[in-house]
Formats: sequence, C-alpha cells, structure tokens
Amino acid sequence: MPSVRLASSVPKSATAVDVPMSTEAVSKLPADRKAAAQRQGFEGKTGQTLVLAGGDDKQIEVLVGIGPSKDLTTAKLRKAAASFARAVTKHGSVATNLMAHAGELDRAEALAAVAEGLRLSTYRFNQLRSDSSLKKNEVKLKTITIIASGRELRAELNRANAVIDAVELARDLVNEPGGSMTPQAFVAAAKKVTADTDVKLTVWNEARIKRERLGGVLAVNQGSEHPPQFLQLRYKPAKGRPKASVALVGKGVTFDSGGLSLKNSVGMMTMKIDMAGAAAVLATMATLPAIKAQVEVTGYIPLTDNMTGPDAQRPGDVFTARNGKTVEVLNTDAEGRLILADALSLAAESDADAIIEISTLTGSATAALGQSYAALLATDDDLAGRLEAASARTAEKLWRLPLPDEYRSQLDSSVADLRNIGTTPYGGALIAGLFLKEFVGDKPFAHVDLGLSAVSEASKGINVKGATGNGVRLLIDTLAAW
Ligand code: BES
Ligand code: MN
Ligand code: ZN
Repeated sequence: MPSVRLASSVPKSATAVDVPMSTEAVSKLPADRKAAAQRQGFEGKTGQTLVLAGGDDKQIEVLVGIGPSKDLTTAKLRKAAASFARAVTKHGSVATNLMAHAGELDRAEALAAVAEGLRLSTYRFNQLRSDSSLKKNEVKLKTITIIASGRELRAELNRANAVIDAVELARDLVNEPGGSMTPQAFVAAAKKVTADTDVKLTVWNEARIKRERLGGVLAVNQGSEHPPQFLQLRYKPAKGRPKASVALVGKGVTFDSGGLSLKNSVGMMTMKIDMAGAAAVLATMATLPAIKAQVEVTGYIPLTDNMTGPDAQRPGDVFTARNGKTVEVLNTDAEGRLILADALSLAAESDADAIIEISTLTGSATAALGQSYAALLATDDDLAGRLEAASARTAEKLWRLPLPDEYRSQLDSSVADLRNIGTTPYGGALIAGLFLKEFVGDKPFAHVDLGLSAVSEASKGINVKGATGNGVRLLIDTLAAW
C-alpha cells in the first residue's frame, strides 16, 4: 500500500501524473484532447478519470474530474483523489496536482482529504491470499507525491497519515475472519498498537469480569468456547488541562451467530464485522497521542463472540447488568446491547462529561438509512452537534434518529426490569437506543449505530470491498475539535 509525501514539483520517478479538470476546463481543452474526452464520455464530473498515454519517456497523464469549480468541496477532492489512485495502481510512483485546486478551501482539511482519498482507496487486505490471487489484487503503488508548497503542510500530512493508519488498522481488524479475530486476538492487537504509547491499556479477564459483575458480557459469552475480555484504554493530554473527559464505548462481538435465536445463513455471512465499533474505538485511542488531542479519553471495549454452545443463554433467561438492572433476554440475537449495558454502566460511574458509543447494533438502522449512513441517536443536542459537525468535515455520513419516550414501554418486562427487544417489529434502531439509554445515568449520551456502513459491497470512492473503517475518522475528528 502506498505512502504519501509532499513535494513542490513532480518527481522524475513518477510515471503518472494527474491533470485535475473542472467541468468548465474540459471545454477549453486543446482540440485533440477534447475529442478524446468526448469520445470516452469524460465531462469533468467529480471522480471521473481519463488516462491519456504519454510518449515513450513521458509521464502518463490522467485527467481527473473535480466537477464545477465553484462547487468544489473537500469531500469532492477526497473522491477525486480516490479515483486518481485507483486509475494508477499498477504504477510504482505517481504525483497529484489536486492541491493546486484547493482554492478557497481550508488547506489543512483539503490536504487530509486528498491523502485519505489516495491511501484509503488503495488499501488492500491481502494477508490471506496465496500467490496467484495476490498478484491480481496487488497494488504496485509505492509512493504518491502530493504537489504543494508550504512547510506548515508537513505537520498536517503527518497528522493525516496517522488518521489514515487508524482507519486501515480498523479495516484490518474487521476484515479478519471471526474464527481468528477472537477476543484474545483482539486483546493482542490492542497490546501491540498501544505498546510504547501514552495510551494505558487495562485488560480484565473472565475472573475479573465476574468480580466486576459484568452480567451482560457473561450472559452473551455463555455459549462460547472463548472466554470474554474487557478492555479499558486511557489517554491524557501530555500538556495542559484537558478540555473535557470523554468516554468512548465500542461493541466487540467478534462473531455474531445470533446465539440460540440463530441467524439464517445469509444474515450470518457478514457477522465477523460485529466488532467494528470496538475496532473504531481502539484505532481512535491509539491515534490520540499523534494528533495531540486536548481531551482526556477513556475507551471501554467489551469482547465476546455470540455462539450456541451447550450452556448458551436461553430466550427467557434473566441476567443482572453492572448497574443492577435485571434484563430478560427474549432474543439472544439482540446481544450487542447486553454487553454494551455493562460498558455503559462503567462509563456512567466514571467522571466522564459525555459518553459516545459506537456499534454495529441493528439491521434496522440500515433498513432505514441504507448502507452509506450510520444512525445517530443522542440524549443531548450539543453532543449530537459535535458528531454532526465532525460528520460534515469527514464525510462519514450520519443521520439523526429520535429516542421517543413513547416507545419506552415496549421494553417493560413481565419478570425483570427490562426486556432486550421491543414488542413490535418496527423502529428497531430506536428501541435499541432506548435500551442503551437505561445504562448511562444522567450523562450526555450519543449512540452511533454503524449498521452495515461498517462494510462496503463495492470498491468505490475511498472504500474497498469489505470493511470501511467507518467511525474512525468521525471519532478522531470529534475529539480533535473538542
Ligand atoms: N449485529 C447485529 C446487527 C446487524 C445486523 C448489524 C446486520 C449489521 C448488519 C445485532 O446483534 C442484531 O442481530 N440485531 C438484531 C436485533 C433484533 C434481534 C432485535 C437485528 O437488528 O436484527
Ligand atoms: Mn445479534
Ligand atoms: Zn450483533
């Protein structure tokens, strides 16, 4: 996978270079190029590309559409950069002029967007391929040079690269099969990425989880061969008084079979992604020192798979969560909220000013919003506003859904304090949010339901088929801007 650097001119080593083209610029092309563009349907629309062969010793030129110049946004630059990188994956060294078109945009944000487009679109998960399929899927790109001047941009690029590393880490963790990404494997990854950093990692094993009364984690783990794990990660700014203390909580179901309320084979097919929230929290935490975040952050990650072993929890079973509430489990496939109940209870006990939780919690979020959007549910408008602002900057799409009091009675149980599913098949993402709300005390709380935005069906824009790493840029940006 390529690395991205800055230079003030195109290096000799580059065998391809882009020519960013607004829609207006296409009509001003020299006649021969205009004819080629017309023939191939290149109109300068954002993300369109047209490869023009150079002479023998000449660099190949790639026209890259950036849309009407007056409408340029960082999101479009990101998309254009992604298209360019995709068009030149078989080259070793290339250069891009996209920064020359950043115009009125914030230069730091534009640079980050270009770097993200270049690197994230050429990410590959090739660890599990053997030679022949590896060759087919290999990205030959080693170096991408962004042409731009200004010394201050170097620090910005370092920062952008750290954020992109975090997204790629999350993608790697989510792409790893459920059979090998066990809670233990996730812990090993967490140890590796936090070693020699200022992020302090605490691991609770099963015995400690029992002593700490994490009843939801234990209930979901009953059907599993792999003991559960519970992680806490702590970051404090090296200098200065922290602007706030924030708790991050991530769902870490390393594989979701549904438990005894078993999923069908299609529903289960993608369920190695059910730790995408946990991956986003780990990747975010690991990056806070590099971006010198000015907030104190504690990450909480409950880890287990959801399986059907002989003592798996039965529909109708009742457990007691960390905060003392009892829960009747009527559907063992609504398991994420059970492990999150404990993690949220711990966050609620802490001195955090706000709790942000992220999870692949419901199919219902995706039924409502489709795969490009994550759902945002929040008890606090300020906190929701912070996430929405970060969403606008990162183009990680969020759409806010309500937490309606009038649905709360659907969670009343006839034997316990709560049941874990609603009484109707409707509004599942909202019901799930209302369930989580029972465990956050009176702290401002935001819940990001990634649904299937954690994966992409197609290689498009910055996404490559498979894990998207969605949520990572959103969380980092939210904390950085606090
Ligand atoms: N991990 C799933 C949610 C999910 C499903 C995320 C598909 C992404 C794609 C979660 O544990 C689950 O199974 N939720 C159920 C809840 C239901 C049983 C109330 C769902 O959404 O169907
Ligand atoms: Mn489930
Ligand atoms: Zn799940």
